[in-house]
Amino acid sequence: MIEVEDVHTYRGINYVLQGVDLTIPDQQCVALLGRNGMGKTTLVETIMGLLRPRRGEVRLDGRNVAGRPSYEVARRGVALVPQGRHIFASLTVEENLTLGARPPLDGHTGTTWKLDMIYELFPHLGDRRRNRGGQLSGGEQQMLAIGRALMTNPRLLLMDAPSEGLAPAIVDRVGEIVGQLRGEGLGIFLVEQNYQLAVRSADTVNILAGGTVVWRGTPAELDAVPEVREQHLGV
Ligand SMILES: Nc1ncnc2c1ncn2[C@@H]1O[C@H](COP(=O)(O)OP(=O)(O)O)[C@@H](O)[C@H]1O
Ligand SMILES: [Mg+2]
Repeated sequence: MIEVEDVHTYRGINYVLQGVDLTIPDQQCVALLGRNGMGKTTLVETIMGLLRPRRGEVRLDGRNVAGRPSYEVARRGVALVPQGRHIFASLTVEENLTLGARPPLDGHTGTTWKLDMIYELFPHLGDRRRNRGGQLSGGEQQMLAIGRALMTNPRLLLMDAPSEGLAPAIVDRVGEIVGQLRGEGLGIFLVEQNYQLAVRSADTVNILAGGTVVWRGTPAELDAVPEVREQHLGV
C-alpha cells in the first residue's frame, strides 16, 4: 500500500535520506531498525507529509503524496504515533483521544475504533479519562498516543520508537498490542531501537544506515546474520 521510492530528504543542511526504497504492504508489519541518528524519524516524517523530500516518491495506493500536507496523508488512512508521544499535556485523556477522531474510509475492514473500545484495550486510560495528559506516566502516555492514532481509524499505523524510555513490562505490552492490531488487519510500520520488539512483531525488517536501506529480510533471516546485526545495530 505504501511504496517509498528513491527518497532523498534533508533536515536543514543535513542530507539524511540518500535514496531510500521501501514497501509497506497492506496488513503487514514492516519494521525499520537502525542506530540513533540514521534517519528513521526523518523517513517516518517524510511518509507522513511532515517533511518534503528533495527527490523521490511516496506512493499511497499508487498515488504520489510526497510533499503533500500531513492532513491529506492522514485522510487517506495513515496515522502517526510520534517519537516522544507528543500528548497534549493540558487536555484530558478523553480530549486527546477525540481530538482527531474520524470514521474509517470506505471499504475499511476490521475494527472501527470508538472511545469505549480504546478503553477496553487500555483499561488504565478509561480509569484516567478525566486526567490531563501531562499527569500520566510515560507508559500511559504511550498507550494514549496509540489510542489517539487508532481513533482516526487508519489503515496504516506509523509507530516511531514506541518502546523508547519505557520499563520492560510496558515494552512487552507494546509488543502485545502491535501483535493484536496486526491480527486485526492493520498495517504497521514499526520504527524501533529495540531489536527484540521489532523482530518479534515484524513480517519484514529493514535496516537504515548511511542514508539508505542497507539490509532487508525476514526476522529469521536477520537472526542468521550476526555480522549484519553487529555492524548496523550493535546487537
Ligand atoms: N531539526 C534538525 N535539523 C538538522 N538536523 C537534524 C534535525 N533533526 C535531526 N537532525 C539530524 O538528522 C539525522 C537523522 O535524525 P533522525 O531522523 O531523528 O534519526 P533517528 O530517528 O534514526 O534517530 C541526525 O543525524 C540528526 O542529527
Ligand atoms: Mg527517531
